[in-house]
Amino acid sequence: MINHEIKIAFEEYNTFEELNDQDKHLCLEAVKALKGSHSPYSNFSVGAALRLKSGRVLYGSNQENAAYPSGLCAERVALFNWGANYADDPIEALAVTAHTAKFQISKPITPCGGCLQVLAEYEKKQEQPIRTILYCQGGAAWVTNGIESFLPFLFFEDRLVTVPV
Ligand code: THU
Repeated sequence: MINHEIKIAFEEYNTFEELNDQDKHLCLEAVKALKGSHSPYSNFSVGAALRLKSGRVLYGSNQENAAYPSGLCAERVALFNWGANYADDPIEALAVTAHTAKFQISKPITPCGGCLQVLAEYEKKQEQPIRTILYCQGGAAWVTNGIESFLPFLFFEDRLVTVPV
């Protein structure tokens, strides 16, 4: 038997002011994205903003549905828009934030496993890491330069895309 240990690392910025200007800007774009949230069931709004290499910003917000599983998280709304329409313009960074009137959010929200897996897929596709900034309004931000810190056991199988002979 062998015991394995995996270390994950991320940067924590205690206040918005500590972030660099590009990260600050993208966090504020994620806050703007909150406006598009359709979340009458959870009353929990999530906003996501992607900065592409060209400088274009793509927005996503959570979209809920009376048939609950038909909804989608903010991150995937933004990421699938990129995949469908802008995939030739690499994603440099993703910022995510959340808001609810029901309680005070005291730390950054971390994307669900499904969104992390989609993020992993597109990092592989574009062959460059996506800087990810998880931003709590009025609080801390957690930053990584790539998905592996958040999802070390991401699923990827190169042989699925090879044509069998
Ligand atoms: N949600 C997101 O949009 N992103 C996340 O990373 C976690 C959760 C949404 C899904 C649902 O609309 C609401 O937040 C409450 O779970």
